[in-house]
Amino acid sequence: MGSRLRLAPALTALLLAAPARALSGVDCAAPGADCGLRDVAVQAGVLVGSAAQPGFLTGDPLYAPALAADFNSLTAENEMKWQALQPSQGHFNFAPADALVDFARQNAMAVRGHTLLWADPIRIPDYVNATTDPASLRGLLQDHITTVASHFAGEVDAWDVVNEPFEVTSGAFRSNVFLDTLGPSYVAEAFRLAHAADPGAKLFLNEVLVEFGGAKADALRVLVQDLLAQGVPLHGVGFQTHLLDPFTQIDGAAFEATLRSFADLGLSLEITEMDVALLNSDPDRLQRQRDTYETMVAACLRVAECERITFWGFTDAHTWIDGTFGPGRAPLLLDAAYARKPAWFGVRDALVAGVPEPAVGLLLAAALLAARRRAPRP
Ligand code: G3I
Repeated sequence: MGSRLRLAPALTALLLAAPARALSGVDCAAPGADCGLRDVAVQAGVLVGSAAQPGFLTGDPLYAPALAADFNSLTAENEMKWQALQPSQGHFNFAPADALVDFARQNAMAVRGHTLLWADPIRIPDYVNATTDPASLRGLLQDHITTVASHFAGEVDAWDVVNEPFEVTSGAFRSNVFLDTLGPSYVAEAFRLAHAADPGAKLFLNEVLVEFGGAKADALRVLVQDLLAQGVPLHGVGFQTHLLDPFTQIDGAAFEATLRSFADLGLSLEITEMDVALLNSDPDRLQRQRDTYETMVAACLRVAECERITFWGFTDAHTWIDGTFGPGRAPLLLDAAYARKPAWFGVRDALVAGVPEPAVGLLLAAALLAARRRAPRP
């Protein structure tokens, strides 16, 4: 059993609203126990979440109940991105994102904000890409982040402030209008604007392909250390964890070591976008996928600072992978008919293994609940 006694503020709040079974001491490890992943996650001291899209809440009758049953956190897959929120300058469209926030509130779920700035040229509107005057671009950045972070203040407990500042496969800063016009300091500016607009939110830097160490992970750590040294309000690092089976070399110890190297900087850590795309059709691919999910979740649970595990979707019926790698890659925990795959049980088993001894864990969690307050962050 694990010994996770550190509770994130969002988890504290959710424990107050958790389904009775989560705190009733129902043994979610018992065969056939009627527990969702969220019930075990609460007992393991973490949040478990999924990316979500509002259209599926109404367009797919199985989607909403399955999302609420397994997850106590959600991330707007696209609706909180710049292109969605402010497609033309000065015109904000919050309705789709607000629908997700409303669903989360109705189902005692935390909300991760994704993402205030993904500066990749194809991910921001043309009017932003075309703004190459430094003062004007700073003005756009300030207007966007201040308007958005203020709108969701009190609803979003954590933001991916900057997503993917680096090139996909290296630690070099990815060229974009913000880097080219303002230099690398655009990252710090984004974090300062977000903190000023919502002092209560945890602010994350979110990256991909940094899970198992290497040059890109090293570059990320240097960037994080530089930001912290400047006093930038950076509170956490998100590890997207998009894995390609059988091509990604899965190494739980290496992932744990990476997590610890960032935890040592005083940061909160999260798996923010996990999926495991099956890029071949060998007969044991679902079992291997299960093992991959279990390995990565178990590594997170061994590091107290790893506070939330978010999957980039939860049913093979709705995944970005289909459009990028082609259909049939079955990357998620439920199949297209919403039946639990071996991967679901791999996550469940890793969570169960992370649950502290029943009496101690729940008593201390309850004691911590009584003491904790959600204070503005430094
Ligand atoms: O909403 C429009 C629709 O009106 C239009 O008809 C249609 C065809 O052009 O496009 C729709 O927008 C698409 C959007 O998803 C919503 O479905 C965009 O074209 C498409 O590019 C977008 O893809 C998303 C992608 O990020 C880019 O924003 C994926 O769904 C989403 O899963 C993916 O997620 C990213 C994370 O944000 C960051 N980390 C990597 C991850 C995977 O790429």
